[in-house]
Amino acid sequence: MRLLDPLASDFTSAMENLMHKDTRLTIISNRAPFQLKRKAGKIYYDKNVGGLVSVLDEIMCQGGGTWIAWGESEDTPSRVGIPLDDPKYFMRLVDLTDLEVRNYYQGFSNRVMWPLCHYFLDRCHFRSEYWKAYRGVNEKFARAFDMVSQGQDNIWIHDFHLTLLPSLLRERHRDLSIGFFWHIPFPSSPVFRVLPWRKEVLRGLLGCDLIGFQLRQHADNFLQSVADVFKIPVDLERSSVEFEDRVIKVGVFPVGIDYKKWNDLATSPGNIEKARQIRREVGAEHILIGVDRLDYTKGIRERLRAYEHFLEKYPEYHGRICMVQIAVPSRTRVEEYRILRREIDETVGRISGRFSTRKWVPLRYLYKTFPMEELVNYYAAADTAMVTPLRDGMNLVAEEYAASRIREDGCLILSEFAGASGILGDAVIVNPYDIDGVTESIHLSLTMKEGEKRSRMQRLRQAVKKRDVYWWCQTFLSTLMDVNSKDPYQESLFPTSKVL
Ligand code: UDP
Ligand code: G6P
Repeated sequence: MRLLDPLASDFTSAMENLMHKDTRLTIISNRAPFQLKRKAGKIYYDKNVGGLVSVLDEIMCQGGGTWIAWGESEDTPSRVGIPLDDPKYFMRLVDLTDLEVRNYYQGFSNRVMWPLCHYFLDRCHFRSEYWKAYRGVNEKFARAFDMVSQGQDNIWIHDFHLTLLPSLLRERHRDLSIGFFWHIPFPSSPVFRVLPWRKEVLRGLLGCDLIGFQLRQHADNFLQSVADVFKIPVDLERSSVEFEDRVIKVGVFPVGIDYKKWNDLATSPGNIEKARQIRREVGAEHILIGVDRLDYTKGIRERLRAYEHFLEKYPEYHGRICMVQIAVPSRTRVEEYRILRREIDETVGRISGRFSTRKWVPLRYLYKTFPMEELVNYYAAADTAMVTPLRDGMNLVAEEYAASRIREDGCLILSEFAGASGILGDAVIVNPYDIDGVTESIHLSLTMKEGEKRSRMQRLRQAVKKRDVYWWCQTFLSTLMDVNSKDPYQESLFPTSKVL
């Protein structure tokens, strides 16, 4: 495998440059890019939503290799070539029992790691059966890797479901090159140290060569946690730590989107017409939009309260404004998510009941998932996007909204607790807990001069374009190659200057 050629003119040639014939990329994540289904003896697949998996899928199609992930549906083969009609890479699907799904996925991943890392300690359920299953499933993924490994792999593991995997793989294959990307926030050390299995989780992660975070703050929190838990020095200057005779590098790689794809979709005449049609159907002068998985970290309830408060405080906008909230069903078997769904239903009902008139609907709530090709029309139709998570690793919706504003208009209201605020400082930045502040930000978005909106949006679009998802992939993978080809004791791969 060679290093990335900075002069490679496009992503394809850059990736070809990166992937040498004798090494292969193995991606390992909990969620697969597709849901495979068998109907009448034939295999079909549906794409899972989210821009990231489709880009990773594209990389795999270009470079080949293997993707290991949970095989969700029953009755599917454990190994399948993708695309089905002309395979470019292989999926190895890990089969989980119902009990493992309950304890590893719904339990440890979504009722321990997720709330802990998003600072929701009161939603953590530290149960030993969850931990046992988590360990067992991480081992299952390691065994799945053993079955496909050809000895020269570059491995790229994703997210908080698989923290033990780097060390499990390192024990078996000392010379593997292992990268790990942490998509969600990494909490501050005092919060992380609440985890009863903090040592095991950190030790697991430290099996890799490179671990990437969205923000400098997350990377520093990780290093500080390592220092506090193991009582060892960490090198904040070089962003690395020596652990059990190996040096682990820690880097910052804010994840981007496929800017060109969103921009092009928004530019197509058919979609321009569809966006107009949405505006006509919504029938309001000002459209606000929210797009989120139905997750308590996304601040949907607080956002709706702020909108309700706005309607109380500014009655002159009655009949003229409408909020469209898209909520994607998510983790529906986890209790906290069921409760949240009921709460949101109630809040939506209350606002609609209080303010709707015969001619005006102030709020449209869509509990469903849209494909990218339809979502883009909602972004294009909305005057203001409200991205106000209580905590978020990055938040791709904020970037997608900017990429879809081809006329350089529109206003983005963005939470200071979304990682995206680190790169999208030209948004209207709010504290999502401050209901009065968010109310005023809605008012500001309606009254801001067009010139100011335009110059903010121009800068937002530039920022998203500059660091798109291809930049992210190339930078992470080339850094992983670099880490393995340099003497980590001699060279600093990560200068101290802040990336963000
Ligand atoms: N998304 C989608 N269809 C929808 C709503 C959202 O495909 O109806 C996608 C959206 O385009 C984005 C992703 O879901 O790429 C959400 O990513 P984000 O980082 O905002 O949040 P996450 O769900 O990963 O926490
Ligand atoms: C976040 C996480 C991903 C996860 C996604 C959807 O983006 O960082 O790892 O796949 O949410 O959640 P789900 O539980 O449906 O996979």
